Amino acid sequence: MDNKFSKSWINMRIHYDDLARSTILIDFMKKQNASNNYRLVDMCTGSGSFLIWTLKRGLLFTDTILIDNDMNLLKSIKSNMRRYLKNIFTIKSNTNNLNLVISDALQKKSNVKIKKADCDTYQMKDLDTYVISYSAALDLMSKSSIDTSLKKIEKKNILFYSLCFDGTIKWKKSHPFDKYITSFFNNHQMSDKGFGKALGYKSISFVTQRAKKLGYTVKTADSPWVVSNKSNQDILFLKRYILDIKKTLYHMEGIDRSMLKIWYTEKLDQILNKKIKVHVGHKDLLIFKK
Ligand SMILES: C[S@@+](CC[C@H](N)C(=O)[O-])C[C@H]1O[C@@H](n2cnc3c(N)ncnc32)[C@H](O)[C@@H]1O
Repeated sequence: MDNKFSKSWINMRIHYDDLARSTILIDFMKKQNASNNYRLVDMCTGSGSFLIWTLKRGLLFTDTILIDNDMNLLKSIKSNMRRYLKNIFTIKSNTNNLNLVISDALQKKSNVKIKKADCDTYQMKDLDTYVISYSAALDLMSKSSIDTSLKKIEKKNILFYSLCFDGTIKWKKSHPFDKYITSFFNNHQMSDKGFGKALGYKSISFVTQRAKKLGYTVKTADSPWVVSNKSNQDILFLKRYILDIKKTLYHMEGIDRSMLKIWYTEKLDQILNKKIKVHVGHKDLLIFKK
């Protein structure tokens, strides 16, 4: 099956993901005064959204590795970095590969290696200590890939799963078919998204229980998208969000297509002509050894 993620949608999300992300990782790193001791490995990096956010928040790792299995997305990292970090960082690229060198105003540098690889099989060097991040990816993962990711907490490594979809989509004003649509959407989230059968929103309780059983500490924070149709950008985002839901569910077994069409048409009307707000639940999970 085709597990490719839409570049335009991932790029459209960057702004809303930025607003949604909690500060638990930043607070933890500041408290430990530790970012110099860690390398960052951003698994399932897509087009670099998570790294852009850490840099904007002043978290600069000397060495960063960005991993994804989709070259098309990896190729857009440089332009996204330049777009979102303009006037804050200088971004230099290597002509032979995708790698970047990022420098701040004080000439503090970060070497960014960009690699096409599978997150489940990618091996990190044993000698180094890492923050291993998975942004907007936990709900796509299978039980075995989550177990594989937990094995990466060795020594002082930290695992950070951010923007994990928790299965809730609340619209204000609500539509009588919202619950029906969300339940099909959640079922769809449990299909193969690149790691075998995904756990969808159930991945949050699964990883929490597994991590606790292994004796790890789990810190959790909310990181929802809260979007109302205030600006043109918001309207475009909301239109795309409901269109993607409609397209995703249209071919699902058992879906009542006439209900789906009514839901979509009435939601679109609200987005364009009335006041509407959506709250999409996400959680950030920071997992480490005590
Ligand atoms: C929803 S996107 C999230 C992208 C990015 N982390 C973000 O926050 O915008 C999921 C990403 O996981 C990648 N992916 C899925 N399965 C993968 C695998 N087995 N190995 C590496 N990357 C994978 C996809 O190519 C996609 O870029």
